[in-house]
Amino acid sequence: MQKTCETRSREHLEALHWRYATKKFDPSRQLTEKQLSGLLEAVRLSPSSYGLQPYKILVVTDPELRRQIQAASWNQSQVTEASHLLIFAHRTDFGPELIDSYLDEVAETRGTAREALAGYGEFMKSKLLGQSPEQKASWSARQAYIALGTLLSAASEFRIDVCPMEGFEPARVNQILGLDAQHLSAVLLAPVGFRSEADATRLNPKVRRSHESLFAYL
Ligand SMILES: Cc1cc2nc3c(=O)[nH]c(=O)nc-3n(C[C@H](O)[C@H](O)[C@H](O)COP(=O)(O)O)c2cc1C
Repeated sequence: MQKTCETRSREHLEALHWRYATKKFDPSRQLTEKQLSGLLEAVRLSPSSYGLQPYKILVVTDPELRRQIQAASWNQSQVTEASHLLIFAHRTDFGPELIDSYLDEVAETRGTAREALAGYGEFMKSKLLGQSPEQKASWSARQAYIALGTLLSAASEFRIDVCPMEGFEPARVNQILGLDAQHLSAVLLAPVGFRSEADATRLNPKVRRSHESLFAYL
């Protein structure tokens, strides 16, 4: 039987109540390939401005790399104890190739003539390429945050734990992973896996601003 919007809404809100920024992962529990690929597919499907997805997601399992990244992440244990470490790295600079490669995908996926997309390509280039390097980097980082939101939401549905993390030194992480040379910069870490029973914070009631203070009806 088809689920109603109300049922789906209730179930998704339950999932959002279930999730929390996991402080302690159970290092003995690993994601299966299928669980990992489900999460990555959700991230791949994340919306972004113009659809350009100006970022890359690194899936780090190498223990030595993770040890080094932990040292550059306020020593937060999630980095090494979670099943997998995802790193969202945004494009620090880009040129017309970001737009052209996307339009190649559009043409192939939708069977559209590439020439028919030229006008749209020029429009995107006129909006994006005239920005300063700082503006470009800020724009691409914001797109990565949307992808993180998609990950958090999907993971809650799958009952997989995540700790979204800004608490790290991007310059050090970039150096460890050789990201500068790829015009990428780490902007978010997301250890994923399963919560430890020993994580007392899992029982903390959620603190959120009230409906009245958060929303305005005009
Ligand atoms: C962008 C972002 C960065 C965060 N950075 C960290 C972090 O470095 N370490 C950490 O333990 N929690 C981090 N958090 C978790 C937040 O503190 C947490 O989401 C917030 O307090 C709400 O609690 P909840 O997610 O458990 O409901 C971060 C969350 C977000 C969205």
